[in-house]
Amino acid sequence: MAATRDGVNWPRAQALAAAERASYVARNPVSAGLAGQAARHLLFGVPMHWMNDWSTPFPLTVREASGARFRDADGHDYVDFCLGDTGAMFGHAPSPVAQAIARQSARGYTAMLPSEDAAPVAAELARRFGLPYWQFALSASDANRFVLRWLRAATGRSKVLVFNGCYHGTVDDVFVDLVGGVPTQRDSLLGQVYKLTDHTVVVEFNDLPALEAALAQGDVACVLAEPVMTNIGMVLPQPGYWEAAQQIIQRHGALLVIDETHTISSGPGGYAQAHGMRPDALVVGKPIGGGVPCAVYGLTEELARRVEHAKRAAPPGHSGVGTTLSANMFAMAAMRANLEQVMTDQAYQHMSALASQLADGLRAAIALHKLPWCVTQVGARTEFQFAPSSPHNGAAAQAILDSELEQVIHLYLLNRGLLITPFHNMLLVCPETTVDDVRLLLIAFAACLAELV
Ligand SMILES: Cc1ncc(COP(=O)(O)O)c(C=O)c1O
Repeated sequence: MAATRDGVNWPRAQALAAAERASYVARNPVSAGLAGQAARHLLFGVPMHWMNDWSTPFPLTVREASGARFRDADGHDYVDFCLGDTGAMFGHAPSPVAQAIARQSARGYTAMLPSEDAAPVAAELARRFGLPYWQFALSASDANRFVLRWLRAATGRSKVLVFNGCYHGTVDDVFVDLVGGVPTQRDSLLGQVYKLTDHTVVVEFNDLPALEAALAQGDVACVLAEPVMTNIGMVLPQPGYWEAAQQIIQRHGALLVIDETHTISSGPGGYAQAHGMRPDALVVGKPIGGGVPCAVYGLTEELARRVEHAKRAAPPGHSGVGTTLSANMFAMAAMRANLEQVMTDQAYQHMSALASQLADGLRAAIALHKLPWCVTQVGARTEFQFAPSSPHNGAAAQAILDSELEQVIHLYLLNRGLLITPFHNMLLVCPETTVDDVRLLLIAFAACLAELV
């Protein structure tokens, strides 16, 4: 009997991978040439080293992108279900944002002063997310870093608690994993000279006793969490988890920071609003400006007062919060257009309904081929995972990752004009994704599974 892995015929999967790599090379001579040129002056041959980690033998070069689609340098058209891993969750170059930044492009980009868009943007964020006070950053990584700094200062506590397998951007503090139950600094983290385990506590998601025990020392400033883990594959909160977790966090005088950078897929106010959560602080990056670099964080009234007090009590000088270009006029204009005209209830209704069709279609194809895989959906975000049911924590999610199998499927789809998110099996739909786009994806996915089993 042929060797199987994750339910697929592994020798067939390897043969398919080889055939798809050859097809990719033959299909993309212009991208190949550009990759060769780029290697002369770009470190690792790419603008960001991780751009080499896709399924492709060499990077695919994008020529232009619009709505749910993009065209590569060889002239092939793609339906994009990766959407910049959420950065373009509202489509590439959504026209209200394109118009707003075109207008702003002749009116200045950055002046270290508030623009006329600042107050309306903050008011809309307050309405949408239910938190009264807001600040800005250039990336979600920065927003998380700034929130941690403010909250440590406001509480006088040094520690942050995160969940095993989390990712919140390049925030050093969160790169601590549970290895055999022991908090351990992630080996892949480069150039880190401080002992992160001194100030970072890590427990498994969905484990209330572990959370209680970790907070009982009374030295944790805040829990930094995605409401649904998304970066190790999706891990849903078990029923009642967040209600109980919030009570525990409050009882121990810690604060809850919800990072909605990916779970903003849940609805116009993110997962927390949709599920009645009451975080002390909330972060959103990536798509908040329609793909223009910016991020936001909001605070409750009470926390805002504590943060202001911490700032006033500190001597004058650098706070460690803020970068020169944060809250620049360009980003503000993009955010205002995106919040007011693109991230609408109507757009979310379309995205969620279409993602449900996608999730149902993926489940049907998986069932037809009797594969032991599952599909999880959080609003516009859908993911298939190589296990019969959704993992319940980071360790379980880590155990079912199979990057080799992922890459075969991703490359098969890419060669047929369909891009899905690298490093796991996530598919996102945007306001301009159509029923036909989803149908195309499902046909190609089913054909891929037929090759694999
Ligand atoms: C939940 C979450 N927070 C923060 C970030 C960091 O975003 P950025 O890379 O834009 O700083 C990411 C990136 O994937 C993320 O998934």
